[in-house]
Amino acid sequence: MSHQDDHAPTRRDFLYYATAGVGAVTAGAAVWPLANQMNPSADVRALSSIRVDVSSVEVGTQLTVKWRGKPVFIRRRTEKEIAEGRAVTMDQLIDTKSENANKPDADASDENRTMDEAGEWLVMIGVCTHLGCVPIGNNAGDYDGWFCPCHGSHYDTAGRIRKGPAPRNLDVPIAVFEDDTTIKLG
Ligand code: FES
Repeated sequence: MSHQDDHAPTRRDFLYYATAGVGAVTAGAAVWPLANQMNPSADVRALSSIRVDVSSVEVGTQLTVKWRGKPVFIRRRTEKEIAEGRAVTMDQLIDTKSENANKPDADASDENRTMDEAGEWLVMIGVCTHLGCVPIGNNAGDYDGWFCPCHGSHYDTAGRIRKGPAPRNLDVPIAVFEDDTTIKLG
């Protein structure tokens, strides 16, 4: 074999380089969106949290807003709803976790799912934890809370699953009162 033959690229070498080249391009393409997500534009940051004026929400009514592509229920509960929610003990629940992003390690007591001490304000993602339908509100279902007609899931006045196929309580998103009449989501 001559010296020159030693360095002549073989077909195998060519395939190897070609594959390595494609690999490098693919890795570059995969890294770019990740890098973009880590530096979200001002638009994206603005969408990730919103402020909701709740000054017109009467006791016993619910405001539904869209946030991050999902409905969010903001309910101002009646005394009866609060009393019903607070009377429930953990052994009556299917899901005993709060499912509250503000209190992730807490149990699902009514107090741990509502926003204020009086328990008047309840904010939840309006998506059934079974297969994602939007439950009906305003004292619906067997527990005076929300009812998902898709497969019959009943949620109580604190949005906790009480009957039906849904495995978890309705999720409570990060939410705070910025002032008396403004709730910030996210
Ligand atoms: S999606 Fe709600 S019960 Fe199935």
